[in-house]
Amino acid sequence: MHGGEGLEGGAVLHRGSDPGSLAVAVAQAVEAGLREALAERGQATLIVSGGITPVPMWQHLSMAQLDWTHVTITLADERWVPVDDPASNEGLVRRHLLRSEAAWARWVPLYDGKPTPKEAQPAVEARLATIKWPADVVVLGMGGDGHTASWFPGQAMDAAWQAHCVAVDAPQTPNVPVPRMTLTPRTLLDARHMLLHLTGADKEPVLARALTPGNAVELPVRRALHESKATCHVYFAP
Ligand code: 6PG
Repeated sequence: MHGGEGLEGGAVLHRGSDPGSLAVAVAQAVEAGLREALAERGQATLIVSGGITPVPMWQHLSMAQLDWTHVTITLADERWVPVDDPASNEGLVRRHLLRSEAAWARWVPLYDGKPTPKEAQPAVEARLATIKWPADVVVLGMGGDGHTASWFPGQAMDAAWQAHCVAVDAPQTPNVPVPRMTLTPRTLLDARHMLLHLTGADKEPVLARALTPGNAVELPVRRALHESKATCHVYFAP
């Protein structure tokens, strides 16, 4: 694990040799952020991302010896499908993170079975209002098109994006093409600890472009890298 290299735009890059050891390093960083919050404020808020990259990290994190009863967990974004659908981020979280020690955490779902995320937005907003903000630890991922959470290239962020969450239309392939609910930049970017966790040589050129400050509509992950209140720690392994 490379120690951490400061980059243009303020992000710090931690380069791992392989996805397995990177997952351990990310889990340790998340655990440290949660431990700090529990010690300083008696509770902690963790926001995780869906997709397949975080699965091995969650498996390590779920075994951490923490006071999970005072940890609240939700998702940065959700694909609007039932929890038993293989594309459900909540399904992945339930199978790989909310188990072992972490089974004691308080889980705040985004998906609630309403027909569309647009119809669910007021209820999800109310659930999110029960969380203690700002989040202590946010872990984002990145798609091959430079999206993060469900902030996709070319998206117009209008007044609706002033809320904690917003419904977004199904993205184009190669992403899972279903409507989404996403937390907004306003909600995520003032986290106390911001981590971006990504793997795969195919994502490296996109990451390299995004690390150069520039247009965030073209590469939304730039918001996490350059607009986050806390330094964004990027964990990457080919
Ligand atoms: C989602 C996400 C999304 C994800 C990236 C990376 O639900 O689609 O939260 O932003 O983090 O697409 O996904 P992978 O880890 O599967 O490459």
